[in-house]
Amino acid sequence: MSLAKRRGFVFQSSEIYGGLGSVWDYGPLGVELKKNIKERWWRSMVHERHDIEGLDAAILMHPKVWEASGHVSGFTDPLVDCKQCKNRFRADDPRIKGTPGQPDAQCPVCGSKGTLTAPRQFNLMFKTFMGPVEDQAAVVYLRPETAQGIYVNYLNVQQSSRQKIPFGIAQIGKAFRNEITPGNFIFRTREFEQMEMQFFVKPGTENEWFDTWRAERMNWVKGLGIREEKLRWHQHGKDELAHYAADAYDIQYEFPFGWQEFEGIHNRTDFDLSNHQQHAGKKLEYLDPKTNEKFLPYVVETSAGADRTTLVVLCDAYREEEVRGEEAAEGGEQRVVLKLKPSLAPLKAAVFPLVNKDGMPELAHRIHDDLRRHFNVFYDDGGSIGRRYRRQDEAGTPYGVTIDGQSTQDQTVTVRDRDTLKQDRVSTGKLVEYLTQKLAG
Ligand code: GAP
Repeated sequence: MSLAKRRGFVFQSSEIYGGLGSVWDYGPLGVELKKNIKERWWRSMVHERHDIEGLDAAILMHPKVWEASGHVSGFTDPLVDCKQCKNRFRADDPRIKGTPGQPDAQCPVCGSKGTLTAPRQFNLMFKTFMGPVEDQAAVVYLRPETAQGIYVNYLNVQQSSRQKIPFGIAQIGKAFRNEITPGNFIFRTREFEQMEMQFFVKPGTENEWFDTWRAERMNWVKGLGIREEKLRWHQHGKDELAHYAADAYDIQYEFPFGWQEFEGIHNRTDFDLSNHQQHAGKKLEYLDPKTNEKFLPYVVETSAGADRTTLVVLCDAYREEEVRGEEAAEGGEQRVVLKLKPSLAPLKAAVFPLVNKDGMPELAHRIHDDLRRHFNVFYDDGGSIGRRYRRQDEAGTPYGVTIDGQSTQDQTVTVRDRDTLKQDRVSTGKLVEYLTQKLAG
C-alpha cells in the first residue's frame, strides 16, 4: 500500500478531508495498469471472438430491474447493532462472543453484554433519487453488478448484431455496494469496476459451457503472468451460492491476507431472464432460426473485478530482493521491484541521459520523443543512474534506455532489463523494433 501511494498507483479518495471509507482513486501509474488489464480483457473477450459482443449500459436502471433480479429482497447481509456504542457489525463477525440478541452476547467494540440486537437484513444497494422530488416513487439504485444491463439488452444486442445462440455479451463498468465490512485496500470497496460477460446458451448445454468458460478464464488469468501456485479454484457450497446461481466457482489468489476470490464463474440458469420476462411483461424468448423452436436461454456468467484483478497483479509482482551483479553496491543493496508482465506495465521504458552534458540530454530527448509515439515512456534525468533505475524498478518499468558517452559517438544506447539487470547495446534506429518485440505478449 505504501508503494502504491508513493509511486502514484492508488490514493485514498478525498484524502485531504481524512478520506472516504473504502473508496480509492487511481493515480498516474495505477490508471495505466488498470487500463491495460481492462484492455487485455476486452481484447480476449470481445475482439478475438466472433461470438461475443460488447455493451456499455448505464449505471442507473429502472428500479423494477432490481426487484426482478432479486436484489431488492435478496441482496442483503445480516447485521447487528450495539445499543450501547451504536456500532454496527455483520452478524457473523468472528469478534462477537455469544449469540446476538441474547443476554450473553458481547459487543466487540465497547465490551457491553446483552446490548447487541438480533440480526436484521441490511440491503447492500446504494439508493438515490431521480428527478427533483425525493420520495419513495423517485428511488433509483446504483447498480450492484453490471450483469443486469446485459440481460435487459440481450435481445437488442442479439437482433442488431445478428448473433445466434450460443453467444455472449461483455461489459466493463462501475458497480456499487454499501459493503459493511470493506477493507484490505482495493480488495473490497464500495465503488468498484467489474468486467462481466454473460453467455446465452440453449438449456441443457449450460454445464458444458460452464466447464469451457472455467477453463478459458483460468487461462486468461495465467496469461497475466500470475504465479500458478498462487491460484486455485473454490466451488461454492450451498450456503455460499448467490440467490441467482445454481453452481459457482471462484478463482482465488493467495493474497498477503489469505486466499480470496477475484473472479467468479456462475451458472445463472434462466433465473434473470425469466424474472425480467415476468416483471416487464415482455417475451424474452429466443427464436432458433433453424428449428423455429422458441426458448429462454440459460446463462453462464464470468464476473471479474477490475480492481481486484489489479490488486492480484500488483501483489504478485511485488518483490523485495537483493541487487546482484554489476549494479550491486558493495555490501549488497536491497531493491523493491514490481515484476509486472511488460505488456501490463504502466510505463514501458524510461529514458536516462547518463549525465546532463556533452550532448547526452539532446540525444535523450530526441529518443524520448521518438519512443513516446509508440509506447508510454518516461524521461528522468534526476539523481544518480542507480537511483533512477531503482525508481523505475518500483514502478515496474521493464526497460531502461541509457544514453551515455558512447551514444553520442555511435548512435547506440544501452537497454537495461528490469528483471535480469542485463544490458544490451542497441542502435537508436532499431530501438522501437527492439522494444516492440520485447513488449509483445
Ligand atoms: N454479477 C455477478 C457478481 O457480481 P460477485 O461474486 O458478487 O458476482 C464478482 O462479484 C466480482 O466482482 C468479484 O469476484 C470481485 O472481483 C468483484 N467485486 C465484488 N464486490 C466487490 C467489492 N466490494 N469491491 C471490489 N470488487 C468487488
